[in-house]
Amino acid sequence: MARAAAPLLPFFFLLLSSTSPAAAQKNRLGRTPQMGWNSWNHFGCKIDEVIIRKIADAMVDTGLAKLGYEYVNLDDCWASHDRDSQGNLAANGTTFPSGMRALADYVHGKGLKLGVYGDAGLRTCSRLQPGSLGYEDQDARTLAAWGIDYLKYDNCNNQNISPLTRYNRMSEALMNSGRDVFFSLCEWGVDDPATWAGSFANSWRTTEDIKNTWESMTDNADKNDKWAPYAGPGGWNDPDMLEVGNGGMTIEEYRSHFSIWALVKAPLILGCDVSSMTPETKDIISNQNVIAVNQDKLGVQGRKVQQDGELEVWAGRLSRGRVALVLWNRGPDEASITASWSNIGLNQSAVVDAHDLWTDEVTPSVQGNLTKKMDSHACKMYVLTPK
Ligand code: GLA
Repeated sequence: MARAAAPLLPFFFLLLSSTSPAAAQKNRLGRTPQMGWNSWNHFGCKIDEVIIRKIADAMVDTGLAKLGYEYVNLDDCWASHDRDSQGNLAANGTTFPSGMRALADYVHGKGLKLGVYGDAGLRTCSRLQPGSLGYEDQDARTLAAWGIDYLKYDNCNNQNISPLTRYNRMSEALMNSGRDVFFSLCEWGVDDPATWAGSFANSWRTTEDIKNTWESMTDNADKNDKWAPYAGPGGWNDPDMLEVGNGGMTIEEYRSHFSIWALVKAPLILGCDVSSMTPETKDIISNQNVIAVNQDKLGVQGRKVQQDGELEVWAGRLSRGRVALVLWNRGPDEASITASWSNIGLNQSAVVDAHDLWTDEVTPSVQGNLTKKMDSHACKMYVLTPK
């Protein structure tokens, strides 16, 4: 039995969030949310150039690169403990003996892009490598010389200096470096970066670190939701990287994780070992229908629009008058959820074709509402196309 559900947001709010423009960007990157891979969620500090090359190979061999996953990003622990005699950042000589230029060449040779991790403080969060505070220009020049395409910039050991000052400085430095570098802020949402980062960053974390659990994933989804009006082409809210394939959630939970991240225009940064993933993991992260929702050029972050206890409806506008819809059963039992057109930005009288993005089936001519039953922690995801 479908249960009655209260609308969370009036329709005008959906309209509002779809039309508020992102602040002017200093670079032209991130017109759609970034897609790629990052080392942290699976490998933590245990990374080296052999692993990263293997990942780059797998991105191409598994077909992920063709689907749009383009960045291969090193997280913490790639650099040597101290700067060199000229004060430059240097790769860790034991784990990355060939150096960063060689790694960038390798990754670029595969048609991919290379990202690194830095910190807007004195040292990174692991404390194993230097931060860039006070070295912004020099470090940006070093990254550009290596051919780095992406900087994830963390917030540890920050001397209590305003994040605006610290992050703006690196943004300027990157802009002056002569290379287009995607700028991904990792300030954990502490000082509401959605409200100030849009003018100089391409994405900003809105939450603490994701853990490989259902509780952490759903919590990050909820915390990220309220910042939706600030997202748009050029600047995205970031509820943290994907855990799909890392083993702490069920397949249905991972499918929900991926569906919601796609709908809310989160960066799709894979966090599993793509060189040894299961067919189930590959199926989830390779779903072109779902990826297309994330990469829709309108760039509207979908939102939680209806909630009845743990039965939720998330929706957002897509280009060409379409609507992306997720029915999400976050409760402990199988349940039915009904999405009402009036809650998801459609005229109550609208007739739509409903494309189920996971089964690839199309139900023609649906009017007024859509009811589906699903297992605990599972979701159903649709694109609704008005006739
Ligand atoms: C912080 C970040 C994480 C990761 C670690 C690395 O916790 O939020 O995403 O980069 O640092 O030490």
